[in-house]
Amino acid sequence: EMLEKGGYEHFMLKEIYEQPRSIYDCMRGRIYPLEGKVQLGGIKEYTEKFKNAQRIIIVACGTSWHAGLVGEYLIEEYARIPVEVEYASEFRYRNPIINENDIVIAISQSGETADTMAAIEMAKEKGATIFGICNVVGASIPRLSHAGIYTHAGPEIGVASTKAFTAQVTALTLMAFYMAETKGTIAKSKLIGLLSELERIPKLVEKALQSDQYILSIAEKFKDVRNALFLGRGSGFPVALEGALKLKEISYIHAEGYPAAEMKHGPIALIDEEMPVIVIATKNSSYEKVISNIQEVKARKGVVIAIVTEGDTEVTKMADYSIEIPHTDEAFLPLIATIPLQLLSYHIAVLRGSNVDQPRNLAKSVTVE
Ligand code: G6P
Repeated sequence: EMLEKGGYEHFMLKEIYEQPRSIYDCMRGRIYPLEGKVQLGGIKEYTEKFKNAQRIIIVACGTSWHAGLVGEYLIEEYARIPVEVEYASEFRYRNPIINENDIVIAISQSGETADTMAAIEMAKEKGATIFGICNVVGASIPRLSHAGIYTHAGPEIGVASTKAFTAQVTALTLMAFYMAETKGTIAKSKLIGLLSELERIPKLVEKALQSDQYILSIAEKFKDVRNALFLGRGSGFPVALEGALKLKEISYIHAEGYPAAEMKHGPIALIDEEMPVIVIATKNSSYEKVISNIQEVKARKGVVIAIVTEGDTEVTKMADYSIEIPHTDEAFLPLIATIPLQLLSYHIAVLRGSNVDQPRNLAKSVTVE
């Protein structure tokens, strides 16, 4: 088994470290930065469909649903098609309004999640076109879908999803750019710039992984907390949700992800000197706003662990701990900012003695509703 884990103590850690590779594998052969082109053989027959699409509905569960939220930002920003992100289990029982011009994107690592399959079947019956984003080749969801793309992250064994998530986000990024290019909602020069940056992401993920030891030292300080709050804005919000989910899943610490500005409508009441607040505070369009959210936490004696852009001084002065990640275009922030949060949960869980690869009560794939 040690051999399968490639020398890592757990599959989860191995899979976290595989991300430079899995992200690369997801985009390999699909992006052409010099020409400003994205090629997605899986969905190219459906070009007319998304040119006419009035709406995209993303359905998924768990971590895949978080990837969907990132997809919403990307597709709306670049392809200018309205997107709704739905929990498959809610969507399927709600008699939703779906018509023939709708595209449903179903995201699933395993391709076997019962609720997601049922949501696809219902949307299909109502005439929608279904695109699947799946990791397991030949699974039920790709077979149920009209078209789709595989994430090519390789087998994920750890129950808590890591590399499958970043690959899903990569796949959604490709889809958003592909749709934008075909619809003409993005300038060629802009797309060239974005694709060249996307090509660098595996390297930047590698760099983000280098904070591992520092993150372990933070984990040692926080391993006994009972609650944690994760905050982010924009596409940092789904990152916060995913960070909180990881911590819950494997360390059994109660954690919540929140849009940073919503904090004052509830979670702020929980903040005291015991409560770590993990904030995505990288240098992008919401930087200044996040800074004022950090001030609100500090004013209540909360402990701030900030994810910051390399070289940051402003947040670093305010936060109790700052974990640096390399700078990238805002479009790719989730791919990098997720890495330290995965490592933080991992180390906390190991220090608490949890069964990291097989957390209690959880299944890798939920094939019953
Ligand atoms: C389970 C797994 C999660 C996963 C979710 C959705 O809860 O433990 O890691 O995100 O199912 O699974 P899917 O295979 O559809 O992505």
